[in-house]
Amino acid sequence: MALVNTKKMFEMAYKNGYAVGAFNVNNMEITQGIVRAIAEEKAPLILQVSRGARKYAKNSYLKAIIDVVVSENPDIPIAINLDHGDNFQTCKEFIEDGFTSVMIDASSQPFEENIRITKEVVDYAHERGVVVEAELGQLGGIEEDVVGVDADDVSKHVADPNQVQEFVDSTGVDSLAVAIGTSHGAYKFKKEPKLAFDVMEEIQRRLPGFPLVMHGSSSVLKEFKDLINKYGGNMPDAMGVPEEAVSRAAKMGVCKVNIDTDLRMALTAKIRQVFAEQPGEFDPRKYLGPGRDAIYEMVKHKLRVLGCAGRAAECM
Ligand code: G3H
Ligand code: 13P
Ligand code: ZN
Repeated sequence: MALVNTKKMFEMAYKNGYAVGAFNVNNMEITQGIVRAIAEEKAPLILQVSRGARKYAKNSYLKAIIDVVVSENPDIPIAINLDHGDNFQTCKEFIEDGFTSVMIDASSQPFEENIRITKEVVDYAHERGVVVEAELGQLGGIEEDVVGVDADDVSKHVADPNQVQEFVDSTGVDSLAVAIGTSHGAYKFKKEPKLAFDVMEEIQRRLPGFPLVMHGSSSVLKEFKDLINKYGGNMPDAMGVPEEAVSRAAKMGVCKVNIDTDLRMALTAKIRQVFAEQPGEFDPRKYLGPGRDAIYEMVKHKLRVLGCAGRAAECM
């Protein structure tokens, strides 16, 4: 049975200094691109679904796609995570739908309230064998259904190392997303990438052995940014987290790295290229197919950045 929660994955990732990729899925092509890379590279996998993804595709469709992935890949440990659950009810619904992991994101609430909401979810989830991720500090970037702070303000909202021990002890949470200056989306920095690794280091010191999570970790790869801009797109100022920084985090207790924007950009770049080079094309398979291939190549590369290629067996 390859459907698992993230406990063993995080234990091995922490011990061996790598991170598991948590990839957002919204449709079949994105999922297939990711899974082809994972299966070839024999890496553990976290597939995640946001509320926005569920609204777009319906949970029943996404769940059916993920069920096929799980049954076709018995030798790959696969966890399915609710990304940015906004309240107890959402988390409860996803747990009832068979998710093995949920994130409760009450990071915009005052500290005590974040603790209260997170603990309520943890108590419900743990009784059902489901693990819980919570968040301290706030990320930048506003996604469709995920509330963040203005990307210019992220440095004011990094996680406070003084709060982490109390938060973990009071909630019983299984992993913690800590904001260190990343944002969701393609515009993470204005001038140059700046992340608070000193904060990450201090948090790891205060929580030895405890799995940390990094959101907003896409790198905005030059290849796709250039293709998008070349073929009629307009993202000249897009900037992501350098891959060296992602690899560095993976060695500092970060066991889960969230990636969505790089998937979106790979798909968009290839679709734009097909439309520009073959303006008569109208068969979706002829533009979604190259998009899916680009996702496969990108994820294959990413697994090396994260260091989790070849680690599937030890995470079962
Ligand atoms: O956390 C942000 C993810 O990229 C999900 O974004 O709510 O637009 O699906 P979304
Ligand atoms: P990116 O926008 O950097 O891909 O981050 C995704 C994320 O954190 C999903 O929770
Ligand atoms: Zn996120």
